[in-house]
Amino acid sequence: MHLHALLSLLLLQVGLGAAHLHAKRAAETNATLSAYGTNSTNWPIAYGLDDGLLYITEDPNDSDFNLTPLLWNLASITGENWIANATFSNGTSAGCMYIMSEHDYAVGVLPLTRAAYVNGTVSGFALFASQLVFNNNTLLQAQFWAKSTSSSGVYGLTWTVDDSTPSGDFPVVVKATEDS
Ligand SMILES: *[C@@H]1O[C@H](CO)[C@@H](O)[C@H](O)[C@H]1NC(C)=O
Ligand SMILES: *[C@@H]1O[C@H](CO)[C@@H](O)[C@H](O)[C@H]1NC(C)=O
Ligand SMILES: *[C@@H]1O[C@H](CO)[C@@H](O)[C@H](O)[C@H]1NC(C)=O
Ligand SMILES: *[C@@H]1O[C@H](CO)[C@@H](O)[C@H](O)[C@H]1NC(C)=O
Ligand SMILES: *[C@@H]1O[C@H](CO)[C@@H](O)[C@H](O)[C@H]1NC(C)=O
Ligand SMILES: *[C@@H]1O[C@H](CO)[C@@H](O)[C@H](O)[C@H]1NC(C)=O
Ligand SMILES: *[C@@H]1O[C@H](CO)[C@@H](O)[C@H](O)[C@H]1NC(C)=O
Repeated sequence: MHLHALLSLLLLQVGLGAAHLHAKRAAETNATLSAYGTNSTNWPIAYGLDDGLLYITEDPNDSDFNLTPLLWNLASITGENWIANATFSNGTSAGCMYIMSEHDYAVGVLPLTRAAYVNGTVSGFALFASQLVFNNNTLLQAQFWAKSTSSSGVYGLTWTVDDSTPSGDFPVVVKATEDS
């Protein structure tokens, strides 16, 4: 299915011109991001303490895989600043969401100051209603995929640049929910 292509078309009509009209405050604060797909119904997105990449798994506290949950501050697509900021549950900042083009398009988190110096895409994530989308300067896109890892039930969150679909992987829709 070409869900992401369809979304790109639908979202384009919203008009990027509206993106600068409204207030700066985050649309959702301390939100949980979850992935919806074939093998992940509402599974939270967790942070890999070993590599700084994002993973989809039922238990974001999975200590075997060295994962920890994150809370997110996210703008709406009508907001000004499209930097998606993550915080650990102890309140320490983890950094911002980042597509690592030099790392097979894995989606990770990097401190803002470091992210500015590496080769990838640091900004551009915001919420369309509750769905996380990416602004590539031309289109709004939602091309998140769950990529299988060596551990069953743990998938790496990645971005796709074309329609190739390796076996064992599946597209996911990423949605935010505010906890409290
Ligand atoms: C993860 O563990 C922390 C600390 O033990 C706990 O407060 C939190 O509720 C857990 N989160 C989930 C989603 O299980
Ligand atoms: C994320 O953090 C940056 C740097 O502090 C800030 O400019 C931006 O507004 C934050 N994004 C959101 C959605 O709060
Ligand atoms: C908060 O949690 C993160 C991830 O577990 C850890 O790296 C960081 O050192 C912690 N910060 C504090 C102040 O304990
Ligand atoms: C978000 O969570 C942090 C850490 O738990 C807390 O310090 C902060 O007040 C919360 N912010 C909001 C707007 O609830
Ligand atoms: C940086 O990214 C561009 C576009 O993806 C790529 O062509 C280039 O090789 C990358 N450079 C490095 C040093 O990774
Ligand atoms: C945005 O995505 C479209 C469709 O994939 C592509 O044609 C365009 O070059 C991209 N623009 C940027 C700035 O990456
Ligand atoms: C989904 O999970 C089932 C059962 O664990 C597994 O057999 C199947 O290979 C998984 N499919 C994908 C696309 O990961």
